[in-house]
Amino acid sequence: MDLVAQAKKNAGHRAADMVKDGIIVGLGTGSTVFFAMERLGERIKTEGLSILGVPTSHQTAMRAEEYGIPLTTLSLHPVLDIAIDGADQVTPSKQMIKGRGAAHLREKIVADAAKQFVVVIDSAKEVPVLDAAVPIEILPFAYGSVCKKLVELGGEPVMRNGVKKDGPVISDNGNYIFDCAFGKVDDPALLESAINSIPGVLENGVFAKMTEKTIVIVGKSA
Ligand code: 5RP
Repeated sequence: MDLVAQAKKNAGHRAADMVKDGIIVGLGTGSTVFFAMERLGERIKTEGLSILGVPTSHQTAMRAEEYGIPLTTLSLHPVLDIAIDGADQVTPSKQMIKGRGAAHLREKIVADAAKQFVVVIDSAKEVPVLDAAVPIEILPFAYGSVCKKLVELGGEPVMRNGVKKDGPVISDNGNYIFDCAFGKVDDPALLESAINSIPGVLENGVFAKMTEKTIVIVGKSA
């Protein structure tokens, strides 16, 4: 396992070890949170840990099945005790950009529903200022008008294509994903609100308003 994967595993396992018996856990999407889920699965088998998870993607639901983590829904459990998720960039004030896995719409809903948001990263994700392109989930019907407004906001929207460049990535919710560069983001909360105020935007990957309940775990590789 390379050093980055070791750091992700360390972060994921430390987050999983914070999970107490009998709670409802939001399960994010991505390679780091999958390490957390692997460890939760081990704890279920060896300690009899009893939890229910709310998955943020089909991929996460499949991993939960593989690791033996029982699932529930936000309809049955609208308040979660904790959500564990990865991130693509995180600042010292715990504002972040997420959504490389195209799951940020459900990830933000689940994080918002959680009392505590535990973000698991390797140190390469730590940045002084957010500057990555912002993933944006857009209703296909509206992508033309949304892109025009994003350009007016100062962004450069680019449709995310599939691995083989054979068409747009379609989210689990049936929508397009655009990545929109804004350069250095001086006021992430303002940008988050401005993007979401465009009709046809379902959600964007700036997470700037949950800092008080956020704990960031930076994994170590040794
Ligand atoms: C998915 C995400 C992921 O949490 C983020 O991209 C980090 O992924 P990884 O842990 O694989 O580096 O936001 O939408």
